[in-house]
Amino acid sequence: MKKALITGITGQDGFYLAEYLLGLGYEVHGLARQTGLEHIKSNLLQDVPPELYQRCHLHAVNLDNFPGLYRLISRTPFDECYHLAASSFVGERLADGYQTIQNNIASTHYLLAAIQEFHPGCRFYFAGTSEMFGRPGHTPQSEDEPFMPRSAYGISKLAGYHLVRNYRESHGMFCGVGILYNHESPRRRPEFVTRKITMAAARISLEGRGKIQLGNLEARRDWGYAPDYVRAMHAILNHDKPEDFVVATGVLHSVADLCEAAFSHVGLDWKAHVETNPAFYRTEEGIPLCGSAEKIEREVGWKPTTPFQEMVHRMVDADLARLSAGR
Ligand code: GDD
Repeated sequence: MKKALITGITGQDGFYLAEYLLGLGYEVHGLARQTGLEHIKSNLLQDVPPELYQRCHLHAVNLDNFPGLYRLISRTPFDECYHLAASSFVGERLADGYQTIQNNIASTHYLLAAIQEFHPGCRFYFAGTSEMFGRPGHTPQSEDEPFMPRSAYGISKLAGYHLVRNYRESHGMFCGVGILYNHESPRRRPEFVTRKITMAAARISLEGRGKIQLGNLEARRDWGYAPDYVRAMHAILNHDKPEDFVVATGVLHSVADLCEAAFSHVGLDWKAHVETNPAFYRTEEGIPLCGSAEKIEREVGWKPTTPFQEMVHRMVDADLARLSAGR
């Protein structure tokens, strides 16, 4: 039985990846903060079926606890490690991103060092992001696009990426990188725009009135469905060569399109319920990030399966069910 370690197992991607790997017969281990584990025990994680985590081996080790990480990794011969944990909000001001940069780089380095020391044959997946391209010169972006990050998060991820590349090239480790574009689901945290909108559409339809405040309605993104993207992570680590892959849909939608898809699903006209507020505008909105997933489709056979509209409808339906149940 293959053993996998997932950092960030209580997050959106960690949840779907754990579910997917358990389904493939893996023994799944997860790292989480002590508070995350307490939330699982007291059933405080919104709508997370506790059965899923009961089937995993959970370890309360913070990624900044190097001795704790070393101990854990020295004891279990993992076959695959999926490094998903990171501070990940792009809207943070650069000057406030000190912790994001420091933590995201150090945790990646600790993990790589421990794995190289104890299980150099363990395959390592690094969760890269389209934010590493920042303000790209071309659209759609492929793996050859020069990196030009514009946020503390993007800078930290790019530094992590270069660490990973060095472990691959200098130490011969099997390190695969997914450069993932936005990916959403009913488990997305509410500070991200998709979930903010689907929760509002559900709430307003149940209450019969209400408004939501958003930033730039013309901002566009390449939005995919998170359960599709965790399949890509596994495929990248099970490819015959360790490489970098863009994981994206190649289709752009605007925030206004999101509003239309969510509100029309509950029979409402979004224009009557959406207001704009400059507080939610970003300073950096250059050429929209839109990925070309040609390489991963050609070499690994991965394709997204859930279209934008269907994903938004699933998210609204999940929010309706949650609110109707009083959660
Ligand atoms: N959050 C938010 N709130 N975004 C808004 C709002 C609002 O009220 N109004 C408009 N937007 C626009 C943002 O300006 C941005 O262009 C777009 O909606 C998406 O914003 P987010 O959902 O916050 O996601 P993100 O693109 O900044 O970052 C996500 O995707 C990256 C790429 O995969 C995160 O998941 C990152 O961690 C990830 O790397």
